[in-house]
Amino acid sequence: MRARGGSRHDEPDMSHTVNLQADVADVLLSEERIRERVHELGRQISHDYAGQRITLVSVLKGSLPFMADLMREIDIPLRIDLMEVSSYGGASTESSGLVRILKDLSASIAGEQVLLVEDIIDTGLTLNYLVRYLRGKNPASLRICTLLDKPARRLVDIPVDYTGFTIPDQFVVGYGLDYGELYRNLRFVGVLRPEVYSVAD
Ligand code: IMP
Repeated sequence: MRARGGSRHDEPDMSHTVNLQADVADVLLSEERIRERVHELGRQISHDYAGQRITLVSVLKGSLPFMADLMREIDIPLRIDLMEVSSYGGASTESSGLVRILKDLSASIAGEQVLLVEDIIDTGLTLNYLVRYLRGKNPASLRICTLLDKPARRLVDIPVDYTGFTIPDQFVVGYGLDYGELYRNLRFVGVLRPEVYSVAD
């Protein structure tokens, strides 16, 4: 079993001394671009749900910075809830679609307008599981908001309502996303230098 967010490369190369900034080969999305886009998403969501109350459900750990920033860009009443899941089975470099819930919702979402807040959609298998699971809790509506979409590797097609950025098939870190649980605290989204990886794809 691997913790979700441990992602495609689970084990950092221990012979490599981690240097957060220097390990990044390329900044894909700057702090400024992310801030502007999150602001736009917040405005759009506030507009679309005007006059209603929503529940943002975020999935730990990768969505944490996005959730924290997005909720403050939304100006309608909202509740938040957090889930944590792990995927297991299959090779460590691939999502298996088998998902175990490590932390469940803390309150009922029955009859609520729910917006699922994701960090990145890769194969879509995790999201597919979560959507089915949340639908089973009878929300009034369920929409999906993701910061990043990597459509190149999609195995399950799920309509996404709000997308921050569509990115190429590259493994990215920062702004919540990790490699071996590190790099989540970078303020931007970037691509690591190849020598940082211990496992090649
Ligand atoms: P999926 O089930 O393949 O869509 O898996 C999505 C999950 O894999 C994300 O929530 C991340 O935890 C992880 N993941 C996928 N791509 C990346 C990446 O480029 N960087 C970091 N984590 C990733």
